[in-house]
Amino acid sequence: MNNYELIDGKAIAKEIKREIAMQVAELIDSGKRSPHLVAVIVGEDGASLSYVAGKEKQSREVGFISSVYRLPEETTEKELLEMVSFLNNDIEVDGYIVQLPLPKHINEQKILNAIAPHKDIDGFHPMNIGRMTLGLPSYIPATPLGIKLLLERSGIETQGKHCVVVGRSNIVGTPIAILLSRNAKNANCTVTLCHSKTENLKDICLTADILIVAIGRPAFITADMIKEGAVVVDVGIHRIEDGSEKGYHIVGDVDFENVKHKCSKITPVPGGVGAMTIASLLHNTLMAYRKEIYE
Ligand code: GUN
Repeated sequence: MNNYELIDGKAIAKEIKREIAMQVAELIDSGKRSPHLVAVIVGEDGASLSYVAGKEKQSREVGFISSVYRLPEETTEKELLEMVSFLNNDIEVDGYIVQLPLPKHINEQKILNAIAPHKDIDGFHPMNIGRMTLGLPSYIPATPLGIKLLLERSGIETQGKHCVVVGRSNIVGTPIAILLSRNAKNANCTVTLCHSKTENLKDICLTADILIVAIGRPAFITADMIKEGAVVVDVGIHRIEDGSEKGYHIVGDVDFENVKHKCSKITPVPGGVGAMTIASLLHNTLMAYRKEIYE
């Protein structure tokens, strides 16, 4: 039984946004324009609409210019490629994202491949993923960047530690495994990347000093899988219908109530990793504005 500490994603995101807002204020004071972030959304997916609304609101809060292109569900792949080409060439746009998922008739990878790498603030373009893998300057996708920032700003030592990542998605598990294994500051972990075909998952998790869970299954990680004193980072977010007044409650991929007592530190859901993603995107937008990655 440990006196665990919460890793407060909300507070850390707020701190990052305050730092970004101060940098934007300095730019404006020196007569420069604000960074400009654009989001493109195709169709009416509820989760995507609320995510894009959050990006728009938080962009404005830090002083960015924020635009959203809302395209109808029937938009063709060719029309979306034209929009991408337009944004690639618009010198007033520093960075943009095309919100996923896209309607089924559009090939997502084809769209992501067409985004100019220097404006790809999601870090989804193969050029950015390749550069990240090689340790070259690149945009890091929002969720893995958010995890890195949470670990750094919570003073969690990573060097030499065994980090177990559960889930190998292209946007979370695989990039965070790569980033934490690199020979770099706030990295140098020994990383094990587990997935749906992993044997002895429980035994591997029990050896984790840092356990990062992005498997997409509610309360999948239980207390018997946790080493005493581990740091646990929960990327999952699930809405569970219940008989409450609200009608649902939110849980992560970790059985938080039972796991927390074994941890030294743990992220809550909500208010952990999820709270960091937009702050990470704003961070990438400022890098795009400053041309810190691509000249
Ligand atoms: N859909 C869910 N998360 C994301 C994200 O980080 N970027 C984009 N483009 N779409 C998403």
